[in-house]
Amino acid sequence: MSRLAVVPGSFDPVTLGHLDVIERAARLFDAVHVLVVHNPDKPGGLLRADDRVAVIEKAVAEAGLPDTIRVAKYSAGLLADYCAEVGATALVKGIRSHTDLVYETPMAIVNEHLAGVETVFVLPRPQNAQVSSTLVRQVIGLGGDVSPYVPPAVLEAVQRR
Ligand code: PNS
Repeated sequence: MSRLAVVPGSFDPVTLGHLDVIERAARLFDAVHVLVVHNPDKPGGLLRADDRVAVIEKAVAEAGLPDTIRVAKYSAGLLADYCAEVGATALVKGIRSHTDLVYETPMAIVNEHLAGVETVFVLPRPQNAQVSSTLVRQVIGLGGDVSPYVPPAVLEAVQRR
């Protein structure tokens, strides 16, 4: 049986930490959907959803990640509904800290309850342990260099804005 996992997130913008999680998901599962989802609790505001999808597609290709990875956006409803629609059995999330675990645990429980979808947590490599989209947006906003934290596709997208 082919196993499909979803790696969901705001990805505004995708970071090297996200790419690490996506790569691990691709090693664990037969196919992976990276899903750009609107998070009403996050202001976002760096890239539009379509641009986030395009940037992730480019970053995945440039990093030489497997072609079992597909990138899409979803704004039609619950993540659990998307998983049921596409037949995904798992979500894969990165956990950098205790704070991430506290944030992710209720969502993992609800998604299992709603659609029987298991959440698999993976730990970051040390060099990515402190990287977040929030930090990247802040550094970009203040004119700093984010090249150690994001793939080149993000730098290009930010320059094009
Ligand atoms: O990168 P983020 O912002 O931490 O990702 C959070 C996200 C988008 C995965 C989460 O907010 C989510 O799953 N939103 C979809 C709506 C939904 O299903 N909400 C209930 C989750 S328990």
